[in-house]
Amino acid sequence: MTDRIIPIVDGRSARPIPAARPRPAGPLRDALGRGLRDLRISVTDRCNFRCTYCMPKDVFGPDYPFLPRGEVLTFEEIVRLARVFKGHGIEKVRLTGGEPLLRRNLERLVEMLAGLGGLDLTLTTNGSLLARKARALADAGLNRVTVSLDALDDPTFKAMNDVDFPVAKVLEGIAAAAEAGLAPVKINMVVKRGVNEHAVLPMARHFRGTGHIVRFIEFMDVGSSNGWRMDDVVPSAEILRTIAAEAPLVPAEPSHVGEVAERWRYADGSGEIGVISSVTRAFCRGCNRARISTEGRLYTCLFADSGYDLRALVRGGAGDAEISEAIARIWSVRADRYSEIRTAETARQRKVEMSYIGG
Ligand code: GTP
Ligand code: 5AD
Ligand code: SF4
Ligand code: SF4
Repeated sequence: MTDRIIPIVDGRSARPIPAARPRPAGPLRDALGRGLRDLRISVTDRCNFRCTYCMPKDVFGPDYPFLPRGEVLTFEEIVRLARVFKGHGIEKVRLTGGEPLLRRNLERLVEMLAGLGGLDLTLTTNGSLLARKARALADAGLNRVTVSLDALDDPTFKAMNDVDFPVAKVLEGIAAAAEAGLAPVKINMVVKRGVNEHAVLPMARHFRGTGHIVRFIEFMDVGSSNGWRMDDVVPSAEILRTIAAEAPLVPAEPSHVGEVAERWRYADGSGEIGVISSVTRAFCRGCNRARISTEGRLYTCLFADSGYDLRALVRGGAGDAEISEAIARIWSVRADRYSEIRTAETARQRKVEMSYIGG
């Protein structure tokens, strides 16, 4: 088994694959008893936005060393890994980035993944290219999309994405996705104190009654470059109070085990919203998510400082059984629960960037 160790570059260092140890029969469980259900695959570390909470311009400038093409997993390599993960029982694959729609011919990858059968195939995008791509993605077998949108007015949206991309274009993308049947469309809004908290109510109002589901996300200390401070977090409880003051809400049951968002319905039946409270109400206990980075490292937590080099196995001639065994060993020793143990101290530690492993 390969245990090549690569030097640290932006939290991209590789960990050795754990040694074999006895495992109980049946589905994989990690050290805290959690299964493996959700695989998130980053298909590019590049993005055409520079959201201040994710890829701030002063770090991700013109000289930023994005991965050269040869380092990036090919579609064939991605599908092979997904097939091996499917053997471990994953039910959902989410394509992420960076901005996944910047990867050329992404619909071809979707088609190849759809060929594996039986997977909920989804994608998280900033929506900038969605109007153009929605139909081809749906035809290729994509089931749903999640679109990031942090405000409905251009000045506030610009303050978040830092590239002056018009809101109207993202709304066109959302409409095209719904029309292509990629529904329900989910909309992710990261809320940052003093920057876009005033956009919460307009966002809730705009999407109420449309069938789209807005999820309000607490600003997280992911990566090492976004200058996170607890003072910048707007707690979900506050967001819920703000919305419920205008339109009463009732709690809804989770739609699946380990769901990240807490669901709420409008009491008058006009739709649903969600809150993602990674900071104030950690949800590590049910975390069944594995992430593959653009260059093929397996991360068992969004806040990890290193990942396991699956690409070295894939490119080093390992068979599917060997890769499957490596994944089983990695998952069996997993004990991540970063959000539950977050402190001001851990928030300052070096962690992998979200644009590299996906959200
Ligand atoms: P569905 O509910 O099936 O549509 O998927 P999802 O909720 O996993 O969707 P999505 O990828 O849009 O996740 C929403 C956001 O929650 C992400 O963009 C992250 O900001 C955050 N998030 C997702 N997974 C995790 C996680 O494992 N840990 C933490 N702390 N945050 C997460
Ligand atoms: N805090 C919370 N959410 C984040 N995202 C990116 N960076 C952060 C952060 N620091 C979200 C984006 C997008 C998804 C990929 O992750 O809004 O919806
Ligand atoms: Fe790009 Fe999404 Fe990160 Fe914004 S949050 S910079 S759109 S990858
Ligand atoms: Fe999972 Fe890590 Fe997020 Fe906790 S912090 S929910 S362990 S990815």
